[in-house]
Amino acid sequence: MRQVTTVSELRKLIGQARQAGQRIGFVPTMGALHEGHASLIRAARRETDFVVVSIFVNPTQFGPNEDYQRYPRTPQADALLCQREGVDLIFAPTVEEMYPPGYCTWVEVTGLQDVLCGRSRPGHFRGVATVVLKLFHLVQPDIAYFGQKDAQQARIIRQLVRDLNVPVKIRVCPIVREPDGLAMSSRNAYLSPEQRRQATVLYRALCAAKELVEQGERHAERVRQHMVRLIEATPGAVLDYAEIMDPETLQPVREIQQPVLAALAVRIGPARLIDNMTLTPPGS
Ligand code: PAF
Repeated sequence: MRQVTTVSELRKLIGQARQAGQRIGFVPTMGALHEGHASLIRAARRETDFVVVSIFVNPTQFGPNEDYQRYPRTPQADALLCQREGVDLIFAPTVEEMYPPGYCTWVEVTGLQDVLCGRSRPGHFRGVATVVLKLFHLVQPDIAYFGQKDAQQARIIRQLVRDLNVPVKIRVCPIVREPDGLAMSSRNAYLSPEQRRQATVLYRALCAAKELVEQGERHAERVRQHMVRLIEATPGAVLDYAEIMDPETLQPVREIQQPVLAALAVRIGPARLIDNMTLTPPGS
């Protein structure tokens, strides 16, 4: 496994892999790698010949009062996980390498970037779309892998690739959960043992919503209110949003006639956690 920090080293190694006829798989990350990332790397390993993981805590996707400074950085453990999973190349650039002085080009996926997490984190998806497109240009992957936990991010990246004709296939891999259902996230590291227990409310609320829909409830607002009540009854949990939406448009639905996406963002102590689940009405 090689690890490089500069664009020129990256380009050289990618060029060699391409010349050898290898298909390139790409997993963009911000490090603090966990089993969720490992599942993306395994999918890339299965489907491609040369697996690249980027590790870059991207400052432009954090708001001024967000957790950029304290975001977990675990380079040694990340390298071990990548080694274990058979990654070929880690690209871990500095902020200056990605955003040299005078940098001023931004990518926006209008509409999709402004709802849900975009509403409480203005500018977040502009930072994500910009860095992901830049990484796509640098790595030129055949296939890039994202987690369904960040459903809005995955939807925005698909749109970006479609709109700008980026020659990459996007794979969205299932959410990986802890045994008690909590979706794996680098931000889970912020939780105290007590908050960690409270954090399971996201999964419990989504499961309750799924059950209601499977029992025949079709009215989205009733399902949404049920999730809200469960979250509001949990000490220490502060709801950011609970939505039931069309997975393509990310707009709220009134009637659940076909599979919809239930999505939550909840603040538990120092961590803002997100999770989602597809709700499928019987017979749809
Ligand atoms: O999902 C993430 O870890 C980040 O948003 C990404 C895609 C690596 C861009 O910085």
